[in-house]
Amino acid sequence: MILLDGKKTSGEIKQEIAAKVIELKAQGKKTPHLAAVIVGANGASVTYVNAKVKACEKVGFESTLVQLPEDVSESDLLAKIDELNNDDQIDGFIVQLPLPDHIDEHKVTLAVAPNKDVDGFHPENLGRMVLDLPGFLPATPYGIVQLLDRYDIETSGKDCVVIGRSHIVGSPMSILMARNNKVGNCTVTLTHSRTKNLKEITQKADIIIVALGKAEYLTADMVKDGAVVVDVGITRVDDPSKKSGFRLLGDVKFDEVAPKCSYITPVPGGVGPMTIASLMMNTLLAVEMK
Ligand code: GUN
Repeated sequence: MILLDGKKTSGEIKQEIAAKVIELKAQGKKTPHLAAVIVGANGASVTYVNAKVKACEKVGFESTLVQLPEDVSESDLLAKIDELNNDDQIDGFIVQLPLPDHIDEHKVTLAVAPNKDVDGFHPENLGRMVLDLPGFLPATPYGIVQLLDRYDIETSGKDCVVIGRSHIVGSPMSILMARNNKVGNCTVTLTHSRTKNLKEITQKADIIIVALGKAEYLTADMVKDGAVVVDVGITRVDDPSKKSGFRLLGDVKFDEVAPKCSYITPVPGGVGPMTIASLMMNTLLAVEMK
C-alpha cells in the first residue's frame, strides 16, 4: 500500500508556484492576489480560509481576507462580490461555503465573475470543464486529479466509483474521471443516497472516490484488493485528549481499508492540502489568462 501524500505533493506544487511568482515579479508583472470571503465564524470554515491565506503567503501571493458577520444580508454580500469583481488588484476570489441559510448559495455562485472564479463553481467554468475548454476546475476535484497524476496512477479503462453527488466535489469529479485526459478515461459510476446495492458496485471498483461526508463510511468489505481509494471526507469528532478538543475522520475506515489498497489518501494530509494547492494554481492561471 502506498500513501498518496497530499501534504508532500501540495508542498511541491506550492514550490513550483512560488518559483513562477518570482519570475513574474522579475518581469515587472503584478503579484497574484487572492481574496477570500468568509461569512460568520464556523470553526471548520475559519480553519480552511486561514489555511488558504497562509498558502498565499507561502507562494508569494498577496491575499485579502474579507470577514462578514453571520447576519450579513444577502444584498450586502452580493455588493461585496460586485466590488471584488471590479477591483483590478484582485485576480481571483472565493466565497467560503457553506453560507448561512438566509443566503442563496446559487445567487452567490452566479454573482462571481467567471474570470475571477478560482473555485470553479460558476456555471460558465463548470460548462468549460464539461467541454474540455480552458477554465477554472473546482479546487477539490482538480487537486485529486493532480494527486493521481503526480503518482502516475493508471486510470485509463478503469472502473471508477464516486460516492456523493455534491456540486463541488462528487459531480465534477465524475466528469473529470471520464474525460479523455491522462487522468481520466475511466468508466465512471456516480453513486448517491438513492443508489441500490452500493457495496456490490464499490466491490468491483478499481478506483473509489468517497465524498459523502459520513465518518468512516467506506469499510473493508466494500473494497476489492488493490483498489485506489481517495478520501474527501473530513468530519470533526469530539476528542477530549486533543488540544483542539476534536480529531478529524475521513469517509474511509482507514485502518481496515488501507491494507487492501494499492494507493490510499490519508485524512488529514491527503485531499485537503491538494484543494489548497489547486486554488493557488487557479489563481496563477487567473493572472496568466488576463
Ligand atoms: N467549502 C468546502 N469546500 C470548499 C471549497 O473548495 N471552496 C469553498 N469556497 N468553500 C468550500
